[in-house]
Amino acid sequence: MNFNLTHRPRRIRNNPVLRSLVKEQELSHNDLVLPVFVSEQAQVPEKIDSMPEIFRWPLNLLVSKIKEWQDIGINTFAIFPQIQASKKNPLGSEILNSDSLVYKTAYEIKAAIDNVALVGDIALDPYTTHGHDGILDCNGVVENDRTVEILAQGAVLAAGAGYDLVAPSDMMDGRVKLIREELDKQNKQNTGILSYSAKFSSAYYGPFRDAIGTGQKTAIDKSCYQLDPANLREAKRELELDFEEGADILMIKPAEPYLDVIKYARENFNIPIAAYQVSGEYSRIWASHLQGWLDLESCALESMHSIKRAGANIIFTYFAERIAKLI
Ligand code: PBG
Repeated sequence: MNFNLTHRPRRIRNNPVLRSLVKEQELSHNDLVLPVFVSEQAQVPEKIDSMPEIFRWPLNLLVSKIKEWQDIGINTFAIFPQIQASKKNPLGSEILNSDSLVYKTAYEIKAAIDNVALVGDIALDPYTTHGHDGILDCNGVVENDRTVEILAQGAVLAAGAGYDLVAPSDMMDGRVKLIREELDKQNKQNTGILSYSAKFSSAYYGPFRDAIGTGQKTAIDKSCYQLDPANLREAKRELELDFEEGADILMIKPAEPYLDVIKYARENFNIPIAAYQVSGEYSRIWASHLQGWLDLESCALESMHSIKRAGANIIFTYFAERIAKLI
């Protein structure tokens, strides 16, 4: 029995050489950004229960660790600080202290290492007692414009400390515009803005909030500023505004639950598109692996391919070390 088929797509899948010949995309070390936690309290690399293989690093050990990551081909790092609880207050004023951990970290890495790119997250959540990304008004609502003014000053300090890209992750309105203006005023025309443009109010940030110690007993609700997971049109508007305000790179976050948004961004803006595979995306794959239900490395690779296929050419991922060793 033999059908007279014109099309037999399986012919190009016959053996590994043919399969690699028709492969549509490869993952590259240059696609990867590793998010890194640096901690003021840690004396040794501290485990994070909800994020296997990820640690909070004391700054004095981080520099040599960055060199090790470079040896396996990772050269871009997004730095997230965990500061002492005693330095937090409702205004998050530690962001304006030029000696603060996040600035010292960039300064020390850049002083010791060449050919490394650093992304500095700009938001108030590592610094506020309430864990919100901005300051609150008397009704407990995050105040947009006052927050943006503080963030723009933080961005100038980050640029001065050596961050190549500042990355506002707060979702306030108008922050890209004001950050650009302030950077330019301070002669930081060459510091780029990687904007968390379409950042959703996601349940997948939980493990991250444990990692930097902003987790509260009841989950914080950021839906007054982050996007509703139901809304694609609103995400498009946010991307458009950040593009207009001068963002150099647009980021979508989380990644895999929002592939449609990534695809839209790729097709509509001719600047690099980044996606952040967030802590919960990482931890859910790990959790299934630990249960013996899913294979860790295959799932991690598959997730990278899906995010890249959707159109992200930069991927923030906690899997970066494993992926870098695999490819
Ligand atoms: C906050 C910020 C968050 C993440 C990066 N920057 C969490 C939040 O919005 O509460 C999440 C990253 C992750 O989950 O891996 N400015």
